[in-house]
Amino acid sequence: MLKKILLGLLATVVILVAGAWLYFEFMLPRQRPPADIHVELTPERLERGRYLAENVLQCVDCHSERDWTLYGGPPKPPIGAGRKCMDRHTPTAGVNVGQERFPGVLCIRNITPDPETGIGNWTDGELIRAIREGVDRNGDYLFPIMPYFIYRKLSDEDVQAVVAYMRNLPPVRSVRPRKQVDFPLDYIFRLWPEPLDGPVSAPDPSDRLAYGEYLSVVARCRFCHSPRSPRSLEEIPGRAYTGGMPFLLGPRVMYPMNLTPHPEGLGSWSKEDFLKRFRLYGQAKPVPPEENTLMNWNAFARMTDEDLGALYDFFMTLEPRPMVRREVVR
Ligand code: HEC
Ligand code: HEC
Repeated sequence: MLKKILLGLLATVVILVAGAWLYFEFMLPRQRPPADIHVELTPERLERGRYLAENVLQCVDCHSERDWTLYGGPPKPPIGAGRKCMDRHTPTAGVNVGQERFPGVLCIRNITPDPETGIGNWTDGELIRAIREGVDRNGDYLFPIMPYFIYRKLSDEDVQAVVAYMRNLPPVRSVRPRKQVDFPLDYIFRLWPEPLDGPVSAPDPSDRLAYGEYLSVVARCRFCHSPRSPRSLEEIPGRAYTGGMPFLLGPRVMYPMNLTPHPEGLGSWSKEDFLKRFRLYGQAKPVPPEENTLMNWNAFARMTDEDLGALYDFFMTLEPRPMVRREVVR
């Protein structure tokens, strides 16, 4: 009798594990077919795409090697050809998630139009889906260092401009192997991608506050300048833009500033102070690498006065709140 019950239990466990495995292997990540779309390379679109990819969205900063001997680590040519891979020996720099080394091998990939090693053979629809919905052209999940979960807010017109920009980059042959991510992250991140279920419209550019908020999301000010749970990176409710999430650069811990109009935050800064800071820090002066920063000053410094001004005006509408620093997890 007992034996039968035990056998029954064992069979149930085996079925559950097999079911979960089948689900993760064959049903995830959730996805829809890429859109059947052709992005025309008009001069306006190419200019907008260049501005977004180089100065706002940080595509170029992530997808190129960086010169860490200069403040802000400006990108080094060849632009868009990807970066040296992270592996199990690479100390993690950036958002503090309690992981000392990268759990596997990950390469920031070549996004130039080289047909063999870059995105030359991808369709426009496949690129748009990768950027906003987090699956590659084979339907595999993208590791969420690629911030597709933020870019899903990018409007249809803006994402097409970015695609036009990539198509127009000089093709570079640069092999960046596919990733290998350790269990369980390999499975957990398959749960993240989520298809969009309709068009994404841009805020009316004449509504400066709405446009400032849009920029603060897609330029990831909100992501880096809000405290988050160290594991899920979910924002702590009610504390958006108050800063306080630790960033690590070697032994150094940096806390992004409180961007609300609290006296310890932007409250004591005029719009001129705000603009000046960007122009000053964006000059890429020589600096010892250990005193560098993880904020993309060089990219943002070339944002227009109107766009930086819209960001400032939007931050000034936030409720002033103090920063609560999150402890570093090791
Ligand atoms: C914070 C770093 C970061 C930023 C910013 C970033 N990416 Fe990525 N991107 C990555 C990483 C890492 C991968 C590789 C993910 C993987 O292999 O699963 C990737 C993958 C991709 C891929 C898939 C390429 C392939 O061969 O599978 C495309 C396309 C892409 N990024 C385009 C962009 C564009 C366009 C932008 C700006 C709108 C951008 N990325 C911004 C880190 C970044
Ligand atoms: C990749 C993460 C990241 C992103 C994206 C980011 N920041 Fe930061 N920010 C930081 C860190 C880290 C610091 C603290 C180190 C420093 O001052 O460079 C900082 C500092 C600042 C400061 C304070 C400078 C000073 O002199 O004290 C301002 C202002 C600021 N960020 C505004 C912004 C705005 C506006 C955006 C969006 C356009 C933005 N940040 C996007 C990480 C980020």
